[in-house]
Amino acid sequence: SAAEKGGYDYFMLKEIAEQPKAVADTLLGRIDEAGRLALDEVHIPDHVLREVNKVVIVACGTAYHAGMIAKYAIEHWTRVPCETELASEFRYRDPILDQRTLVIAISQSGETMDTLMALRHAREQGAKVLAICNTNGSTIPRESDAVLYTHAGPEVAVASTKAFLTQLVACYLVALYLGQVRGTKWGDEIGSVIRELSQIATEVDKVLGTMEPVRELARSLADKNTVLFLGRHVGFPVALEGALKLKELAYMHAEGFAAGELKHGPIALIEDDLPVVVVVPSPRGRSVLHDKIVSNIQEIRARGARTIVIAEEGDDTVVPYADHLVRIPATPTLLQPLVATVPLQVFACELATARGNEVDQPRNLAKSVTVE
Ligand code: AGP
Repeated sequence: SAAEKGGYDYFMLKEIAEQPKAVADTLLGRIDEAGRLALDEVHIPDHVLREVNKVVIVACGTAYHAGMIAKYAIEHWTRVPCETELASEFRYRDPILDQRTLVIAISQSGETMDTLMALRHAREQGAKVLAICNTNGSTIPRESDAVLYTHAGPEVAVASTKAFLTQLVACYLVALYLGQVRGTKWGDEIGSVIRELSQIATEVDKVLGTMEPVRELARSLADKNTVLFLGRHVGFPVALEGALKLKELAYMHAEGFAAGELKHGPIALIEDDLPVVVVVPSPRGRSVLHDKIVSNIQEIRARGARTIVIAEEGDDTVVPYADHLVRIPATPTLLQPLVATVPLQVFACELATARGNEVDQPRNLAKSVTVE
C-alpha cells in the first residue's frame, strides 16, 4: 500500500531515501568517543583474530560488490591478505582454508543458498565464519561463529540499495576492528577515516538532495540499448554495482569494467553516443589513479562516447571531458563507494520507470535466492 511505501511510489525510492539513516544506524554505538571500534558483539576472541592470516569474503550479487570493496579496505588497513569470491564459485573449486582463515559471509537476507553452502564448507575446513547480515535470526548468522548485523531495516525492493550501503559500513568496521585488535599502526589516516565515517550519513544525504539532473539524464536515455560503467580501485566494484542495478531494473545491456582494462578489449565497444558512466577517484590521496582515469575518459570521448562523469566536488580537471557531470562530496578514497553508488541507484530506478518496468519486482527475480 501507499502507506507502507511512506508516500513514495516504490519501495526502492523509499529505501534509497532511507540510506542516511541506515548508515547512521549501522554505525550507532560501534565507535566510542575516543574513536576506537567497540564491536564486542563480534564473539570471536581477540587471540583468534590476532592469529588470522587470511580473510576470505563470500557473497552473491550486490553483497559480492560490497565484499570486493572490503578487500581494498582490509588489505590496506590491516595488511592481512584478503580475497573476495562469488559464493557460488568458491564452494566448488576446493578452496584452501584452515583454522587461521577468517571467512566473512555477506548477505542481506541471510537466506541465500549459495552463500550458506559456502560458509558451511568453510566451517567444515575449520575456518571461523563471521556473517554480515541484515536479517535477525536468519540462517546465515545462525550457522556462523559470529555476526555483525547491518541496521538497514527491512529491504523490500528486489534491487538492493540501503542494504548495500550498510554492508559497506559493516565491512569498514570489521576492517578497522581487525586492525585495532591486531595492533596495526594506528596512524593519522585511520583516525581521520574514522572521523569521516562518523560523518558519512550527512554526505549521503547531500547526494540525495542533488539527484534531479541524474533523473532527467536517465529519462533521456530510455531508448538506449547499452550503458557501460568504468571505475578503478574501489570505483571498479561501484561500476559493477551500477551495471547490475541497470540490468535488473531497466533490463538493459549494462557492463562494468575496470577502466585500466579498456585497452585490453572493451574499448572496441565504444561507438558514437554510447553512454559511459565513469566513477572518478578523488584527485587528492592517490592522485595517480585520478590521472589515469582522466586519460581513460579522454580516450573514450575521442571515440564518440557520451561521458557521464561522477566526480568529487572541486575536481575541475574532468570538466572539459564530461558530457554530463555528477558531483559527489569529497571523501577518503576507500569510503567513496558510499557516496558514488547513490547516483547509480537513482539512475537505474528512473530508467526503469521511464521504460515502464516494475521497479520493486523486476521480471524473473526473487528477493532472496534460496536455491543453489
Ligand atoms: C541486488 O540488487 C540483487 N537483487 C541480488 O544481487 C542480491 O544482492 C543477491 O541475491 C544477494 O542477496 P543477499 O544479500 O540476500 O544474500
